[in-house]
Amino acid sequence: MWGGRFAEGPSAIMREINASIPFDKALWRQDIAASKAHVAMLGACGVVSGEDAVTIRDGLDAVAAEYEANGVPEDWDLEDIHMTTESRLAQLIGPVAGRLHTARSRNDQVATDFRLWVRDAMDQAQSGLEALQVALVTRAGEHAGSIMPGFTHLQTAQPVTLGHHLMAYYEMIGRDRSRFADARKRMNRSPLGAAALAGTGFPIDRLMTAQALGFDGPTDNSLDSVSDRDFALDYLMAATQCALHLSRLAEEFIIWASQPFGFVTLPDALSTGSSIMPQKKNPDAAELVRGHSGRISGCLMALMMTMKGLPLAYSKDMQDDKPPVFEAAGLLALSIAAMTGMVAETKFRTERMLAAAELGFATATDLADWLVRQADIPFREAHHITGAAVKLAESRGTALDKLPLEDLKAIDSRIDERVFKALSVEASVAARKSHGGTAPEQVRLRVADARDALGLE
Ligand code: ARG
Repeated sequence: MWGGRFAEGPSAIMREINASIPFDKALWRQDIAASKAHVAMLGACGVVSGEDAVTIRDGLDAVAAEYEANGVPEDWDLEDIHMTTESRLAQLIGPVAGRLHTARSRNDQVATDFRLWVRDAMDQAQSGLEALQVALVTRAGEHAGSIMPGFTHLQTAQPVTLGHHLMAYYEMIGRDRSRFADARKRMNRSPLGAAALAGTGFPIDRLMTAQALGFDGPTDNSLDSVSDRDFALDYLMAATQCALHLSRLAEEFIIWASQPFGFVTLPDALSTGSSIMPQKKNPDAAELVRGHSGRISGCLMALMMTMKGLPLAYSKDMQDDKPPVFEAAGLLALSIAAMTGMVAETKFRTERMLAAAELGFATATDLADWLVRQADIPFREAHHITGAAVKLAESRGTALDKLPLEDLKAIDSRIDERVFKALSVEASVAARKSHGGTAPEQVRLRVADARDALGLE
């Protein structure tokens, strides 16, 4: 009585909720490669005839050529990339196509395809981050001796060199690279041949398919093989950590580009204007990198929530693993490229940086240290004396090393003219030559090490 309408409704919704082809078509290259490895192995092991294996392989190449030329067709009835490819293969080569799915399931198939995709994304992140490191090291080398205020609480703290500041990001990006490298090593095992969940009774050679696909070997537990998405989570964790670093770097450029700071002129190519305020040059690319870090960490949350509480082995929830990984990878690649351009092309206004370092009483610690060293005053007392000197300089609107000696002596008679040597920002940074310190000679050493590590001349 009501079936005409009702029977249609659920099936339309079912088709739509079930279909992953709108997004998993991005896996087509991996799906073809894994199928070719699988069928070559089936042929070598005598599970299918050598002749059928060749027919299927050539058919897969023909499907790939069509995808390359025209894109992947999106038919919800075919659900996903695996069924779409197999159905097109059958149209091209006939019933022999049905032999391809021997000794495998879509569960190990998707686990394999997705691993291959994530592995590529890790490699892509590596090369992007390497280019960012090259940009950082290059600019740091140019500015090993350029003085700027160093901040804590975003308040002027002590003078540092711009090269030193940039090299801090070199270190952070280095840790990101090691996280991606570590994740890649851990994930590089082939789940293909785990079949639906329990393995297969066919005499397959899992080592052969693993090697053909560039894996270090097969996974060791079939249940784990089809239910594991740690590799995707590892990728997203590394991507999130990296995005947080990029966001902090972006934030520095945003602050530095603001007029009251005026430390940098951002490249026009990575800025936008305002439709109403002609004077504006907005750091949109940096702001979007900062914003994207939020979305990337959201992708990590999404997949963690998807995986939490799933019993072994495969559940359809896991189909939702792909969109957050695809989204994060796209955003991360853009963010890395944007920050690489920004670091490479930004004009650093070193005269403004120097002036800000001189005016911010950044050498107050040097005065206190001088009192400790030259006058043998306990640091706490030296800190107090220095505070009085800063107060005086502030009330006169002048720098510490511009205060007349008599005024300093009035604060503490143990101060003499040698103090001025310690009070300049140049002397301050030059003194900080402990390992990893901001002294230009230290920065040059670190830059040289980094250039070595990156294989630069
Ligand atoms: N499209 C599915 C996914 O991405 C493929 C695996 C389907 N397996 C299944 N038993 N329904 O997860």
